[in-house]
Amino acid sequence: MRKRIVAGNWKMNKTPSEAALLIGELIPLVNNDNVEVVFCVPAIDIPCAVELTKDTNIKIGAENMYFEDKGAFTGEIAPGMLKDAGVKYVILGHSERRQYFAETDETVNLKVHKAFEYGLTPIICCGETLKQREQGITIEWVCMQIKIALLGLTPEQIANTVIAYEPIWAIGTGVVATKEQAQEVCSAIRACVRSIAGDEAADAIRIQYGGSVTGDSAPELFAMEDIDGGLVGGASLKPDFGRIVNA
Ligand code: 13P
Repeated sequence: MRKRIVAGNWKMNKTPSEAALLIGELIPLVNNDNVEVVFCVPAIDIPCAVELTKDTNIKIGAENMYFEDKGAFTGEIAPGMLKDAGVKYVILGHSERRQYFAETDETVNLKVHKAFEYGLTPIICCGETLKQREQGITIEWVCMQIKIALLGLTPEQIANTVIAYEPIWAIGTGVVATKEQAQEVCSAIRACVRSIAGDEAADAIRIQYGGSVTGDSAPELFAMEDIDGGLVGGASLKPDFGRIVNA
């Protein structure tokens, strides 16, 4: 049985003092031991988020990291820094990183390897544009992204990866994929993992849906066979996140 995982992606929102207030508000709402709950917060909020959640069921994640250990990379955050700060998860290859910061499938793959080297669990994002969906290439596109992201990993590492399927047209738009659309792609991702890493990895890997998830849409999405939770943007900054976790 795969343990469900619901992660909030705060994106570039909340100062440290605002983060402390929000975390205090959310702690009692997301207290559910059947679900892994992760808050992926801006780097500057990590110390206070780790401190405030230390006796709770909440784990802290980062929204990005660099693929080198240390050195002359002004402005970047190293995997060892995240690890030392108490971070457990790291989002890699979010579509906003790809769109605005020139992230590619190849750099995502380098980062995934680095994350495992430091004992961080990667949440690898994939997803198609509206144009790609209309062209009928969604499955091929997403499977290509996942194949490149997972290149060179062992089946055990792949089993411990989290994949977030986030159709770009559903991110921040209020348009949610239907449960059938989301299930179709998440099931194709699992089949792709099966073909490269075998049954054990495919049955263990957790696949999230992301894109305008709310407390209203979460129950039917999370009831689908291959959807093991969600990666939540806007609604992770509100009490609604509690409803999503408990869905
Ligand atoms: P929204 O939930 O705001 O659509 O964002 C989704 C997302 O990008 C999560 O990573």
